[in-house]
Order: sequence, then structure tokens, then C-alpha cells
Amino acid sequence: MYGSERAGDDAERTAFRKSEKKYKLYYENNPKSSKKKKQPKHVDLSEVLDFKFISELYNQKGELPPGVVHVNRGIDRSIFGLENHPGFYFIPGALTLDEQCKWIRESLTNFPQPPNRTNHNVIYGPISNLFAAAKEGKVFVEEERSNNDLDSDSNGSVSNGDSHRWKFYEEDIARSRGKTCKLVPASVLLRKLRWSTLGLQFNWSNRNYDVSLPHKKIPDALCQLAKRMTAPAMPVGEEFLPEAAIVNYFGSGDTLGGHLDDMEADWSKPIVSMSFGCKAIFLLGGKSREDEPLAMFLRSGDVVLMAGEARECFHGVPRIFTDEENAEITPLESEFSDEDDRCFLDYIRTSRININIRQVF
Ligand code: SIN
Repeated sequence: MYGSERAGDDAERTAFRKSEKKYKLYYENNPKSSKKKKQPKHVDLSEVLDFKFISELYNQKGELPPGVVHVNRGIDRSIFGLENHPGFYFIPGALTLDEQCKWIRESLTNFPQPPNRTNHNVIYGPISNLFAAAKEGKVFVEEERSNNDLDSDSNGSVSNGDSHRWKFYEEDIARSRGKTCKLVPASVLLRKLRWSTLGLQFNWSNRNYDVSLPHKKIPDALCQLAKRMTAPAMPVGEEFLPEAAIVNYFGSGDTLGGHLDDMEADWSKPIVSMSFGCKAIFLLGGKSREDEPLAMFLRSGDVVLMAGEARECFHGVPRIFTDEENAEITPLESEFSDEDDRCFLDYIRTSRININIRQVF
């Protein structure tokens, strides 16, 4: 996971790092162009595996590119594997548009709700109703607490454990209070939301699952979906038991550095990883960072499974595409066309969400 990224010069020189740099978003260095008109540098995408194209080719002509295999098991979708990466499965377009919309909504509204933790916990404590607050243009204000307040939190205010607490206010009220307090627009916090954790909570400092942290079970519908999707990668006769999930949120320029998911007890059980929103590039490396990774596109609705040997392979996301031409979210745009869904559409137009689900024990 994030914490396992190796820092320093050595990491900079590995084949994995070189590939990350190749695909990462950089801008043309043109001092005359304003910030708004910044032009992304051209990237050669000719070596990026495209499973949507591979699937179409396979369905029409029964042909596959070298190194790609068709796996015929478990679910009513085409599943592809890679000769050099046993245990890795790619299911293009696995999720319907309805399912995609449902999990995008959940990822923004319910999944970041306490007791689930997010990257914001460490600074602000638990935050309730962030998405609704951002939609309503509210502002998060840090108030100093009097001694009388210290015992009682109410009204959606949160305490970060010291003598301050944060609370959402309407913008005009927030600005008047803000003369003496710190404040941050909810929309900014939403943009800075990078992860939330479901089920057993992961402790990023110790890099382990902290079973003592308060948590809710993973929602049943998500468990059922994960069980259905993992069927092709499960050891025969065994059932996948989803116990923890990490929801990753990506905005333009965000990346997920090369890492291993190695904190679960049994690596024969797959991790199921689902993509929503803007298209991304996923890198699948080998057991060493020196192994040259394969790059592949991930689109909204794609599902990836990593089990067995593939669990030992470095992987990461160096790029998401938020421009209209490359993001490929037109089908989602039509699905989110109601006025009520406007806020989800506004978010997902320039974002990607990944939900990855694990059996821990
Ligand atoms: C992960 O490896 O943890 C997430 C991969 C993704 O965002 O697709």
C-alpha cells in the first residue's frame, strides 16, 4: 500500500519508477500560457494494453495479442489473464452503468462516513456529511472550545482530540466567524479526499489492520458483488469473505505509487479492484521494482483481480485522464443526467474512484 513505497535515489532509478515517470501527468513548460490553459505533455500510449479493444477483437475474431490469455470460468463475462502473471485477471466492462452509478454515489456519500476513516481524520478528526456540505457550499470552521465544551460534541461538530473542534457552517456565517478561526471550504476537503476505509480499518502508520478500531461491516451489496467478481480467481470450493476495503479517490494529477498489498494473511485469496469514473493507466510490475511493468488502461466498470503470485507483484496508478477526449465517461454523463445527480457528475467528470476489497484473515 501507500506506506510500502521505497523512497530515495534507488527507487528513482528502478524500471517501475521509470515507467511511472513515463506516464505521469506533466505540463508543457510554456511560461506564457496561463495556469488554466496549461497543456499536458504528450505521452506515447502505444504500449499500453487496451483490454476493451482486446475483448472486442476476441469476440469478433477469436484473436488475442501475444502474452494475453482468455480465461473461461466463473462469470458470464470475458475474463483475460497474462501468461507472465499467473493470478492476475482483467474483466473489461464487468460492471453495468447502474452498478457504476450506485458505487460512485456510495463512495462519495456513505463510505467516508464515520466510523470509516479517511485521510482527513489525522488533521480534522472524523467528518460527517462531507459530500452534502460540499454540495451546499458549506465551510468547515475550526472553533476554539471552552472547557465546558470539552466533554460534549453535538450537531455534526467533530473534535480532533485537543481543544479545537471543526463544524460546517453556511458560507456567510463561516466568513464572519473566520476572522478569528481557521476555515476550509467543504469543496476543498472533498477534492482532497484521497481514501476511505471500509470494514476492518487499516492503520497506515503501523501498516496493519487494527481490529480494535471501531468499524462497520462492509455493506452486504458490496460483499455480494465482490464474491461474484472474485469467483474466477478463488481456490476451488472456497468462498471469498470480504473483510476490508480501501476506496481511493483520484483527481487530475493524482497518482498511486508502486506498492504491494501484503498485509493480508492469505495471499491465495484475491484482491478485487473496481474502477469508476475517468480512465486511468495501471502498471503491473513483477516481484522486484527492477522488473519492467506492463501498462494497461482501466476504464469505468473494469474489474481487476490479483491473487496468488500476482499478489507479490508491484502495482500502481501513475495517471488518470480528466480531459474530455481521454476520460471516456460519456456513458456515465448520460446516466447522471438528473438535476439531483448533478453533484455526482461534477465530481466524476474530473475524478476516478477505485474500490478494492480484501479478505484479511
Ligand atoms: C490499488 O492498487 O490499491 C488501487 C489500484 C487502482 O486504483 O486501480
